[in-house]
Amino acid sequence: MEYAIYLETAVSLARRAGNLIRESFGGEFEKGFKSCPSDLVTEVDRRSEELITDGIGKSFPGHTIIGEESEKQARAGSGGFTWFVDPLDGTTNFVYGIPFFAVSIGLARDFEMVAGVVFDPLRNECFCAIKNGGAFLNGKPVRVDLTRGSFADSLIVTGYPSNKAFNKRLLKVDYHKIIEGCANLRALGSAALELAYVACGRLTGFWENTLRPWDVAAGSLLVEEAGGTVTDTEGNKLTLEGYPSIAATNGLIHKELLKTLSA
Ligand code: 2AM
Ligand code: CA
Repeated sequence: MEYAIYLETAVSLARRAGNLIRESFGGEFEKGFKSCPSDLVTEVDRRSEELITDGIGKSFPGHTIIGEESEKQARAGSGGFTWFVDPLDGTTNFVYGIPFFAVSIGLARDFEMVAGVVFDPLRNECFCAIKNGGAFLNGKPVRVDLTRGSFADSLIVTGYPSNKAFNKRLLKVDYHKIIEGCANLRALGSAALELAYVACGRLTGFWENTLRPWDVAAGSLLVEEAGGTVTDTEGNKLTLEGYPSIAATNGLIHKELLKTLSA
């Protein structure tokens, strides 16, 4: 498999970073904020990102690396490769002591996702995918949930932006319609892990507004390779730049989710 060597490196780095996060969880760590007081960052985010970007840089010099804590403009590096690194997705959960967060590493070639891993260090669950190679949880193939074919049967998940400046799109969503239409609604606090849960069939569909490319890069490939559908919230192709608003489902309920969001 053409991209296996890249995925192997990504998995190994995600596991090492995940161990660091697990050991730090519940202990003392420095914390601060970025764009606003609810947009949290900790020394653990930074140490995890350093470990991952150093590792990628050593193995694949010349590739571009876009990391949450070292944000820069996406551009294709040597061979057209760009890595998207979220060193700790679910930082708010991590800070408040809620055991739901992950490391997410995705690789794009010419801005198309080709490999990705989402690692949950507390449950030792490693979700990974290679373009046209399927999606896996700890080495076993996973599929989206094809037993639920209607929005009414669906367990939907979403998230809310930490920066209130991004609330404009959020306020446009008619949550009454969503809650009335689906089986139930969740907001678990880690976009990468929520996408992994859609990929393995635990959740039926996910949407979230104004995320960042590193939140969704690996997870979007997981869902596609698990047989699901990924678009932006208007139904167009998802692009890994700016502030993507994403819809990712088992495919069967995709149109109904988009329709409900636009109602
Ligand atoms: P984070 O934990 O890495 O910040 C929660 O709804 C989801 O939105 C999480 O995946 C969270 O990622 C992401 N998120 C919230 N605020 C964000 C921001 N300012 N930039 C990027 N991602 C953000
Ligand atoms: Ca994130």
